[in-house]
Amino acid sequence: MILVFASSNKNKIQEIAQLMPQSITIKGLKEIGCTTEIPETSDTIEGNAILKANFVKNNYQLDCFADDTGLEVAALNGAPGVYSARYAGEHCNSEDNIDKLLRELEGIEDRSAQFKTIVALNLGEETYLFEGIVRGRISTNRIGSQGFGYDSVFIPEGSERSFAQFSMEEKAAVSHRGIAIKELIEFLKN
Ligand code: IMP
Repeated sequence: MILVFASSNKNKIQEIAQLMPQSITIKGLKEIGCTTEIPETSDTIEGNAILKANFVKNNYQLDCFADDTGLEVAALNGAPGVYSARYAGEHCNSEDNIDKLLRELEGIEDRSAQFKTIVALNLGEETYLFEGIVRGRISTNRIGSQGFGYDSVFIPEGSERSFAQFSMEEKAAVSHRGIAIKELIEFLKN
């Protein structure tokens, strides 16, 4: 069975392909000739995952899945949420986003937060959603040098280390994306 992962991120595609059962071949967007940047115009994480999966379904008529992730901070009413990638502005990078987040949380005691990933799977005529959540808190400054995005300021529950101090394998075992993908794989196996 061939399943398209609506992503152009080589690392993500490789990571997920390795977890799949042998009977499923994963293809990224480039491999099906799609070089369009799929617009993420929804105001929810779920909405964007569905939008990306539907883009492939509608344009290529192939079974596919897509993921979307956001960091939700309780004291900021769930922000940056669906806007996590561009929290500090359209052309800002992760460091700018972290700077803004730490500024917004200055002097705030409740630093609880969660990462949420939604995976949308289009299989035949059906759409299925899978969710992965990891709860934790935002540190007061950057810790660690691995990972990406907000990893250096996110400390998962039950740990004293930030995600930027986790190895890739360690993080995948407990992370939002890891959990959602595991759910997807369990579903596909059955
Ligand atoms: P995406 O939907 O996977 O592209 O994630 C959207 C944004 O959320 C990214 O640009 C990152 O800023 C942030 N993000 C997603 N996953 C992670 C993670 O595992 N660690 C830290 N930040 C993340």
